[in-house]
Amino acid sequence: MRIKVITEKTGIEKSEILALRGEAGRALDRLWSGSEPMTGWVQAPMSSRGELLERVLAISDIIRNEAELLVVLGIGGSYLGAKAAIEALPKFERGIPVRFLGFNLCSDYYLETLEEIKNKKTMVCVVSKSGNTMEVRTALEIIKPVLEEKYGSAEAAAQRILAITDAKDGSLREEAEEMGYTTLEIPRDIGGRYSVLTAAGLLPMAVSGIDIREVLDGAADCANSPEWDGDAVDYAISRFLLQEKGKEVELIELCHSRLNYLGEWMKQLYGESEGKNGGGLMPSTLVFSTDLHSMGQYLQQGRQIFMETMVIVDKPVRDIPIPAGPQAGKTVRDLSAAMVSGVVKAHRTIGIPVVEIHLPVLDAYEYGQLLYFLETTCAITAMLSGVNPFDQPGVESYKAEMHKLLD
Ligand code: PA5
Repeated sequence: MRIKVITEKTGIEKSEILALRGEAGRALDRLWSGSEPMTGWVQAPMSSRGELLERVLAISDIIRNEAELLVVLGIGGSYLGAKAAIEALPKFERGIPVRFLGFNLCSDYYLETLEEIKNKKTMVCVVSKSGNTMEVRTALEIIKPVLEEKYGSAEAAAQRILAITDAKDGSLREEAEEMGYTTLEIPRDIGGRYSVLTAAGLLPMAVSGIDIREVLDGAADCANSPEWDGDAVDYAISRFLLQEKGKEVELIELCHSRLNYLGEWMKQLYGESEGKNGGGLMPSTLVFSTDLHSMGQYLQQGRQIFMETMVIVDKPVRDIPIPAGPQAGKTVRDLSAAMVSGVVKAHRTIGIPVVEIHLPVLDAYEYGQLLYFLETTCAITAMLSGVNPFDQPGVESYKAEMHKLLD
């Protein structure tokens, strides 16, 4: 089965899409050429197999045998992909719980997680491409003495730390070598928000019990299917044109309760890749049907500055029949399908551009397809807009101010 993408009903003329297909296709060719910087993710579903996959699976087996809890330290692209997949996907029996730390600066959250670490056999996985990110380094410094106290020595604590980072650079790499942490690499030519199909995303997923071979298979099938190229190109062109026509916001609407963090991952992917030179659709997320009861009014009658991308799961793992009341005889899935169709119809009727992305079911294979599809789309939209999808010069400004205060 494959995910289905409906881009035809956004109000954009077919001729406008056709006019840009050549340029978007050339952008796709550049991504695949192997000569563009930071495009290692294009090959990741294929290059992450073989030796790397075996090593990730072997390390995740050790972690599952040695620990009752894995704590992942990471932020941005070094945690959102894993967090989103773990929230979304079914697990096989031998998975263990995975908690995240180092993605905020909240003492209260720290205290809760440290308490859990004290009470459970724990391993720690630090993920940082640069190896220097403040939140992540701080989390490691806070957690090391807790592990030392629990396991008796700095050496014993080091045995329980895995570092996923650049092969050579950064203070985390230095520390890992000095302390003898087990390590895995984030390839140099893959940036944080495109790293979900490298060890950075795959290791935490595998420890949680997700079938990562299936995730990679889905992504590889998406990468190698010409049909997908067409869908990614048309979605990218639609996003680009809607922005050109004055839309300012892309509402990412998650129509399944397990997809909330996928929305966070998409927000980072789109926002950090495209929000440059005063442009880019600002990504924002809504969860349906929940937010229809808080934002539905605005969507229907507020400022029409947005387009919508709905992510819909067509078939639940198990459906629930409604035993009584006005909806008796139907199932929750029937109601959900009617909600989705109702929103699409009501919004399209008043001219809101709606793109639908349908996953037939929410499983590892289709999720892998979705990740790869979204990465490709995002990169093409950014290239059509004339910005570099793989840098983030803007995030340095607040860091400079913050460090001035801390220093
Ligand atoms: O996409 C990106 O590059 C960023 O969001 C990074 O992932 C984030 O800032 C964390 O960086 P690092 O992995 O170097 O700790």
